Amino acid sequence: MFIPFIFKYYVFLHHYYTNHMKSRDTFTGKIGIVLATVGSAVGLGNIWRFPYEAGQNGGGAFIFIYLVCVLALGFPLVMAEFAVGYKAKANVVGSFKALAPNTPWYMVGLMGVSAGFLIMGFYFVVTGWTAEYFWQAVQGNLLHLSSEEYKIMFDSFIAHPIKPLVWTLIMIVLVHVVIINGIKNGIEKASKILMPTLFVLMLVLAIHSLLLPNAMEGVRFMFEPKFENITSEGVLTALGQAFFSLSLGMGCLITYASYFGKGINIPRIAFQVSFIDTMVAVIAGLVIFPAVFSFGMQPDEGTGLVFVMLPTVFEQMPFPIFWSSLFYLLLALAAFTSVISLHEVVTSYVSEEFSLSRKKAVSIVSGAVLVLAVLASLSLGASIHPIFGKSVFEWLDYISATILLPLGGVAVSIFVGWYLDKRILLDVLEQEGQFKFRFFKTYIFVLRYIAPVCILIVFLHNLFLA
Ligand code: TRP
Repeated sequence: MFIPFIFKYYVFLHHYYTNHMKSRDTFTGKIGIVLATVGSAVGLGNIWRFPYEAGQNGGGAFIFIYLVCVLALGFPLVMAEFAVGYKAKANVVGSFKALAPNTPWYMVGLMGVSAGFLIMGFYFVVTGWTAEYFWQAVQGNLLHLSSEEYKIMFDSFIAHPIKPLVWTLIMIVLVHVVIINGIKNGIEKASKILMPTLFVLMLVLAIHSLLLPNAMEGVRFMFEPKFENITSEGVLTALGQAFFSLSLGMGCLITYASYFGKGINIPRIAFQVSFIDTMVAVIAGLVIFPAVFSFGMQPDEGTGLVFVMLPTVFEQMPFPIFWSSLFYLLLALAAFTSVISLHEVVTSYVSEEFSLSRKKAVSIVSGAVLVLAVLASLSLGASIHPIFGKSVFEWLDYISATILLPLGGVAVSIFVGWYLDKRILLDVLEQEGQFKFRFFKTYIFVLRYIAPVCILIVFLHNLFLA
């Protein structure tokens, strides 16, 4: 069942890229635009990374700071990246070159490409984990174990030298095939079905979790900010997580916006995407934390949280095999639509900047990512020792999400706030007067001062004072 489904899915994607990516065509409708972008934004960041980072950084205070970051910095920067891509209609490096010719701004694009590459290094590994869990769920193996046994199962799986690698390889091959052939209507059509289904499923699971005994303790953990529990690194992690979840800070949204058609209300779409993405993360928290407290587990489990907690939740429901298979399938597909967006950013750069055929570019990127992902996966077992206290997996995550994405955010805010001609920006946001963007002055103020200053303070404080 798995293979045919995936196959159909990438036939969609295949059509999509032939149509859109090569000829720089446009997404069809406004709903299509929202859903395709949501397809990139909603992924492991919301359902896997958000709950475990929140759990490790004290819950409420982290989530509060996360929400402030999304609203005050994330949403304005989503608009800024959209505006750049929409205006330039090019890949991330090409966009900077087009809007700021003969300047070093294109280096921001290069930083984005590097960030995307590093993120893929661990993202593919975790996408593989979701596929393994789907496979286990279908076979009915995620039943009748205690939470401790699920933990052992997860720990031994990710540390295994071969098993996770097989899934990682399968995922890379699938994404490779999708991207190499070019794709039509895919992300858009697939997202149209996938995203709402995932959303409804998450809601059902959240309601179920909230009805568990002692569930309110989990809700309190999420929404009662205890600021004494938060460190400066926690604030930076929340900021980085906001960017990671919104696909922000590396030009992914620049690339997507370059495929938007005419007459798009950018502020509105930026708001919708940020809102939906954040809702999914919060709902994922509402699925997980009530269950954590109800089953007497610890919220700071780390990367295994979703994989250890959720089987225990499904087990309490009628038809557990159905629910768990559906969940891991949707999670795997949501991860798939996100990782495709990452791959596309790097591939389009390699192919255009080095004048390589798309086929060659895809192969180079997939090959390099494979090496990185193998190292990342092996570093969770005994074969590669930690370097300065972190595994390769953790380093990839840390350098990309916590360092490069916030820096990319600073760069984009300065670029759009200071460098880009304000009339051009207003024209893009208002579509030559088709829409009214009333907050333009406030918006410029945020881009010029608030965003770069806040991000840099958090960043430098963490780097030098922590
Ligand atoms: N936002 C995706 C998620 O939450 C991951 C992702 C896709 C991403 N493209 C990105 C993260 C670009 C940072 C930058 O799973």
